[in-house]
Amino acid sequence: MRIDIISVLPEMFTGLVDCSILKRAQDKKLVEIAIHNLRDYTTNKHRNVDDYPFGGEAGMVLQIEPIDNAISALKAQRDYNEIIYTSPDGEVFNQKIANEMSSYQNIIILCGHYKGIDYRVREHLITREISIGDYVLTGGELAAAVMCDSIVRLLPGAIGDEQSALSDSFQDNLLAPPVYTRPAEYKGWKVPDILLSGHQAKIDDWKLQQAMERTERLRSDLLENNK
Ligand code: ADE
Repeated sequence: MRIDIISVLPEMFTGLVDCSILKRAQDKKLVEIAIHNLRDYTTNKHRNVDDYPFGGEAGMVLQIEPIDNAISALKAQRDYNEIIYTSPDGEVFNQKIANEMSSYQNIIILCGHYKGIDYRVREHLITREISIGDYVLTGGELAAAVMCDSIVRLLPGAIGDEQSALSDSFQDNLLAPPVYTRPAEYKGWKVPDILLSGHQAKIDDWKLQQAMERTERLRSDLLENNK
């Protein structure tokens, strides 16, 4: 898989996509993540990417030309499954969308900007608009990094134990059951006896019960999706 990210703040990705599972997945060639500075696609001397809005609103707006140049340059090299724009008014990202995108070959993520973006980009160049939640960030960089992380960890081989991606919270619209490790007792706080029993079928039963109980208590909206 290849993920191309277009941003006016490419330095924000340093550390976010170069650590942990994202780094390992890139080292193992499971994914290629390329960060592009939008300013590299300008044609003016000062590398400006924004201008005043028509109609006199406050603030500056990202211009269509460098964005079109960047997307066209990438599209000339390969086909893309989706050209995504990060925006608080997009479709809300969830595990189902992460699963779907993890099967894609190539995606572009264009990071939105607090100043706004020429609407023609959204009308003509973008295929999908994604929000990571109902709150406003100063730009789409963190949203792009969140999406990358949740997509890449689903790629086969990205995390050591593939079973563990499948047993994540949300994979069955259920929150994950609690997990414990040694010591079996700490300050008098005990690990549930069942987990030490060695009865795998009973343990699996207990985990499912716990997952259902936690989902009902904390996120009953998820159970609606299972009906
Ligand atoms: N840009 C600003 N806020 C955002 C959000 N919640 N999701 C995606 N992109 C954003």
